[in-house]
Amino acid sequence: MSTTVEPTRHPLHPRHPLTRSAAATGPSGPAAPVTRDPRPSRRHVLRAFGLGGATVVVAGTGALSCRVFDSGALSPGGGHAYDPWQQWREPLGLMGAVACAILAANPHNTQPWTFHVTDTAVDVLADPTRTIGTVDPLLREQHIGLGCALENLSLGCLARGLRPTITLLPDGVEGGRVAHVALVPTFPATSGLYDAIGRRHTDRGPYAGQPLTATELAALVNSTGLDGVSVHWVTEPSQKASLGQLLVDAATALTHDEQQSRDSFAWFTGTHDDVQRKRDGLTLDAQGLSPLMLSLGKLLPPYSRAAGDTFWVDQTLTVQTRTASAYGVITAAHAGDRFTQLAAGRLLQRIHLTATDRGLALQPMNQITERIDRERTTGASSTFGQHFAALLPIGSQPVLTFRVGHPTQDARPSPRRALADVLR
Ligand SMILES: Cc1cc2nc3c(=O)[nH]c(=O)nc-3n(C[C@H](O)[C@H](O)[C@H](O)COP(=O)(O)O)c2cc1C
Repeated sequence: MSTTVEPTRHPLHPRHPLTRSAAATGPSGPAAPVTRDPRPSRRHVLRAFGLGGATVVVAGTGALSCRVFDSGALSPGGGHAYDPWQQWREPLGLMGAVACAILAANPHNTQPWTFHVTDTAVDVLADPTRTIGTVDPLLREQHIGLGCALENLSLGCLARGLRPTITLLPDGVEGGRVAHVALVPTFPATSGLYDAIGRRHTDRGPYAGQPLTATELAALVNSTGLDGVSVHWVTEPSQKASLGQLLVDAATALTHDEQQSRDSFAWFTGTHDDVQRKRDGLTLDAQGLSPLMLSLGKLLPPYSRAAGDTFWVDQTLTVQTRTASAYGVITAAHAGDRFTQLAAGRLLQRIHLTATDRGLALQPMNQITERIDRERTTGASSTFGQHFAALLPIGSQPVLTFRVGHPTQDARPSPRRALADVLR
C-alpha cells in the first residue's frame, strides 16, 4: 500500500506520517515486538520525508549549501538557545534551582511556567499563554509539565543547601500559583538524579532490541511522597502490540483532526533562526534522526503541516512503537485531579532522570490521552478511552504514557528560554 506523503514537501514535525488505513495495515504491518534491526533504513526515512532518489542527488551536489548554513545543519544543539543546558550548575541559591527547573520535560516544549523568587521561597506559576490548545484542552499535560519542573526545582534546592517544603496549589485549583516552595538551610545534597538534569533529553529515536527486566523497570520508580500515582508497566508482547497499535491509531486520529493538527504544529519551531529567537517548541534536532538524516532534513525546503503529520505517524509506526522495550503508564484513580497531575509530573521527571542516570532512553507518548481529552471536550463517543482502559488495571485511569529502552544514539537537547525570561 502506498503512503500519502506529499512528494515535494518537508515533514519534520515531531508529531507526525501515513493515512489511517496505511498506518494500520502498511507495508510493515501492525506494531509488534522487535524482531529485526530497530534502526530506520535510509529508504524508510527518505519516504517519511517525502523524498525520492532524485532529491537526494540534488542535495548531494552542494546546490543547497546556503540552506545548510541558514538552517544550522552543521551545529545541532548549538547557539544561545541551548546555553541553559551548559549553565544550570553555576547559579547559586534559588536562581540556580530555577535554572534546574527550566530544563524539565514539558508538553511540546511550551515551557508553561514562570517563577517568583524571594529570599526564602519560590512560587511556581502556570503561564496561561503557553498551552497547546485542543491537544491539551483540559490542561492535563500543562500541569504534568509543571510537576516535572517542580521536581527539578526540588533537586536543585537540595544541591544548594536549601530544604524545600512544597505546598501544591496554595490558592486552590483555580488560583494562580501551582506551588509555593518554602526553603530553609540544610547541608547540600546532590544525587545521581541531580547530576542527570543536564543529560536528560526526550529520545524519539530507535531503541535497541533487548528487553528490560521487571527488576530493572521497578528500579526506575520511586514515588516516595507522591500521593495517588503509580506506574503500570506494559511488557507482555501481545499487550505491547495492542498499546503500540493504539498509539499509532491515536496519532493518526489526531492528524485527521484539523484543529488538533494545527494546534500541535503551532509549536513546531522549524528554522535555526526561529529556534534561537523563540527558544521553545519542538525542533527537528530533537526528533531522534541519525546525524546523516538530520543534515539531510535540514537541506530540504520548508516543511508543511501535512508533511509533518505524515512524518510523526510514520515515526510512531515504524520506529517508536517497533523499538520500545516497555511502556510505562502513570495511572491514578482520578486522572483529572490537579494534585494528581502535578504528582504525576514529579514522578515522570524522577523516572526520566533515573533512566538517564542508568543509561536508558525514554520518550513520553501521549496521543492516546490527548484523544481521550479531545473526545471528552467535544462530546464524541469514547473510543480511545475504552480501548486504553482494557489495557490497564480495573479502576485506574491513564495520566501519562511513555516508552523506555536502551538508546542507540545520543538524544539531542531542546532549546530553553533564558532564566531572565521566566522570572516575574
Ligand atoms: C506532559 C508531557 C507530555 C508529553 N508528550 C509527548 C508526546 O506525546 N510525544 C513526544 O515525543 N514527547 C512528549 N513529551 C516530551 C516533550 O515534548 C519534551 O519534554 C519537550 O519537548 C522538551 O524536550 P526535552 O524533554 O528533551 O527537554 C511530553 C512531555 C510532557 C511533560
